[in-house]
Amino acid sequence: MGSVKFVELLLTAEIFNRFENLSEDDIPKEIRKIFYTRTGIKRPLVVREDMAKVYANDFDPKLPFVDFNPLTKQYKLTSLELATKWFVSKGGEMIKKNPVLAYYYQNYDSLRVSYEEAKKYTLPKHGDKEWLQSIINDLEKNEETREMLSLVRVFSPEEIPVDFNEVALSEEQIEEIRKIEIAISEREYLKKIGLVDIGKLLFIGPPGTGKTTTAKALSKKLYLPLVEVKLSMITSQYLGETSKNIEKIFEIAKKLSPCILFIDEFDYVAKTRTSDEHAAIKRAVNTLLKSIDEINLVNDGVVLIAATNHPGLLDPAVWRRFDKIVEFPEPEEKIRRRLFEIFLSRIDGNFDVEELVKATKGFTGADIKLVVREAVLKALLSGRKSLNQTDLLNAVEEVKNRLQLKSAEYEGCSVRDGRLAGHTGY
Ligand SMILES: Nc1ncnc2c1ncn2[C@@H]1O[C@H](COP(=O)(O)OP(=O)(O)OP(=O)(O)O)[C@@H](O)[C@H]1O
Ligand SMILES: [Mg+2]
Repeated sequence: MGSVKFVELLLTAEIFNRFENLSEDDIPKEIRKIFYTRTGIKRPLVVREDMAKVYANDFDPKLPFVDFNPLTKQYKLTSLELATKWFVSKGGEMIKKNPVLAYYYQNYDSLRVSYEEAKKYTLPKHGDKEWLQSIINDLEKNEETREMLSLVRVFSPEEIPVDFNEVALSEEQIEEIRKIEIAISEREYLKKIGLVDIGKLLFIGPPGTGKTTTAKALSKKLYLPLVEVKLSMITSQYLGETSKNIEKIFEIAKKLSPCILFIDEFDYVAKTRTSDEHAAIKRAVNTLLKSIDEINLVNDGVVLIAATNHPGLLDPAVWRRFDKIVEFPEPEEKIRRRLFEIFLSRIDGNFDVEELVKATKGFTGADIKLVVREAVLKALLSGRKSLNQTDLLNAVEEVKNRLQLKSAEYEGCSVRDGRLAGHTGY
């Protein structure tokens, strides 16, 4: 097995080097990972001893068509013809899943392989953390783009810990997300028919209902980098600076495309233009509107997701610019049941989820997560690694008290620096 993988690696490098029309996206992800350098993947690819060991682990390099250079510690094929013949009998299955090999073997008499089919098995490079890092390294060389990068946080989908199936969503929410997924895969078609204004979502709902979690899980599911920005972090007291920053975040998203641009605390700038705010704020809102207009999934490869707890504060002109408003309400029973199932899935014990669902009316996903955490910690304190129903019910009470304290704190001070504060804002 090791030797077959070893030859697969050598063949992939050799064929990729020979055919300029093959791109990095044609190299299977595990092999791509071997070839990344600080500046991405560059021709010609060379296979060093250490790389071969990482990929093929245990292998016999003494093959009639392989040469080793002890000085450079590089392996090289001496005959592509012999190597490809040897590989056909041993690595047929691998060829079907490796687009570089499938491209070469497509016209091979006995093998029925197709390049198009093989591509379905291969994830595109833009989700690899090494690829993202190479782009970031490049952008950091230039002062202007370095400054743009400092305004956002960039996550590679490989680093995101939440799986989409660990997010409790309603059918409506799932449907909206499916539409985005299909729009991404049909970008060319949408462009052809001129339907470019697509891929802008506004998530609205109280704190802790899963807006950020959904954006992150989506980045992982779609294998797209996530560019995150909180508008409160880029507003500046200096005249005109906020507008410039807004332009910069849209520009950096285009440079990191394809990606998801996630704008959190969206109300921070987008609140109504008609109030007697400072002129600079009006200008910032206008810049925001213009930037939203000028970016789209079909032409720029950017999915825009904005999130807010305070939809009532948004300018009506902002609403119109999103093709979908996705609501994240306080979860109803069905969703709370799913949340308990998700958070308890890896925990031992006997629990009656129905009773917990009934006892947690008005709880958000974040509150339910807190219930489970409190119950686990309490049980650990008494030396147990399994939970029972009493642990969970006690934790529900505790969280309930905490929620009451929190809402009491906000009574009578609903407006703080121009924004509604906390739970009461929604
Ligand atoms: N629907 C959900 N499915 C799974 N987990 C959830 C859900 N809602 C909330 N959570 C959990 O609660 C925590 C907080 O959720 P999240 O940060 O996504 O909320 P949010 O809506 O973005 O809140 P805010 O408006 O304060 O930013 C997360 O750690 C997440 O695990
Ligand atoms: Mg959030």
